[in-house]
Amino acid sequence: MHILVTGGAGFIGSHVVRHFLRNYPSYTITNLDALTYAGNLENLRDVESLPNYRFVKGDITDGDFLRRLFQEHAFDGVIHLAAESHVDRSIASPTEFVVTNVLGTVNLLNAAKSFWQSDLEGKRFYHISTDEVYGSLGKEGIFTEQTPYDPHSPYSASKASSDHFVRAYHDTFALPVVISNCSNNYGACQFPEKLIPLFINNIRQNKPLPVYGKGENVRDWLWVEDHARAIDVIFHRGKNGETYNIGGHNEWTNIALIRLLCRIMDEKLGRTAGESEQLVTYVTDRAGHDLRYAIDSSKLQRELGWVPSISFEKGLELTVEWYLANQEWLDNVTSGGYQRYYEEIYGGR
Ligand code: NAD
Ligand code: DAU
Repeated sequence: MHILVTGGAGFIGSHVVRHFLRNYPSYTITNLDALTYAGNLENLRDVESLPNYRFVKGDITDGDFLRRLFQEHAFDGVIHLAAESHVDRSIASPTEFVVTNVLGTVNLLNAAKSFWQSDLEGKRFYHISTDEVYGSLGKEGIFTEQTPYDPHSPYSASKASSDHFVRAYHDTFALPVVISNCSNNYGACQFPEKLIPLFINNIRQNKPLPVYGKGENVRDWLWVEDHARAIDVIFHRGKNGETYNIGGHNEWTNIALIRLLCRIMDEKLGRTAGESEQLVTYVTDRAGHDLRYAIDSSKLQRELGWVPSISFEKGLELTVEWYLANQEWLDNVTSGGYQRYYEEIYGGR
């Protein structure tokens, strides 16, 4: 089997590439990534010399390039992760999210459709999506696969749109697709613009921790390697045309999570208890900030037997240890253009 993974140099993509290379040595994995600010081949150093791995630098917004790529390598499957993924960036520049997340996905669907149409047997187009397409929950309730779409940010609107296109290609052209919608991931190699790695980076540098609003928003956190395992079972055993929710049944208010993170950081850095928490600074809320996400993943657990493997406390400790052991990685990805981004997003708050 030859699988095309898009966005494999990013956070989740690099864990997916590693998981498939290690668990399926008979497969060939081609990683297609444009290496935007979020893509980093350092994330794959330990597996890049494996004989069944190939990297191609390329952009999913270029339809002609994708058609040539499909002709060159007869892919049997696609696992599509490439995207603009950060909500704050989507508020600052929405159009890039439409181009990459919507047009890029449609280009990929077109390439798969034209290359596979004579024989769809054994083919699979797997689109990786987010729980944010379902909108925001109040204090009660949980997102199921039947929850109507209600995106609020330009990011989630672009992901919702791409999900609709994927389903439309299934219904109209019989393309064998499957979709999963996952909650917030955490773990090694996440770009330090997202809450957990951003705050780890700021704590180590004694910089303020910018908590949006009152810190009462709730997210449902999942260990990224558990997401990669879920992607494996859905890719192999999910039903065509179906959607699977993925989540850890692990809800935390931002402020409770930040307090736990500060405690772990104090311990690992040998600081006195409570020292890191003094860096907490409440700042202007994110525009359109969704209050609460919570995922019901019982369909995936019941039908495909997937369960999360690790407690949040343990996973967060492992995550902190990874970032502290890889401070050079953090320094490399936060130099240059990132400084300008940080000023733009946080300067006026
Ligand atoms: P990321 O931003 O870390 O990585 C995205 C990758 O896509 C990068 O390597 C980047 O270089 C690549 N890319 C961007 N534009 C591209 C283009 N035009 N052509 C080719 N490659 C391009 O993102 P992530 O957090 O790893 O998320 C991966 C996917 O999972 C996304 O589709 C995201 O919507 C989805 N998702 C993320 C989370 C989360 O918590 N991070 C949760 C649920 C779903
Ligand atoms: O739910 C899945 C989604 O999770 C993915 O689809 C997205 O790609 C991913 O970025 C993530 O989106 P969030 O907006 O939930 O993640 P983020 O890490 O940006 O923020 C998590 C929470 O922390 C959110 O309530 C906003 C808050 N926050 C975030 C940042 C960056 C802060 O309070 N301060 C910050 O500086």
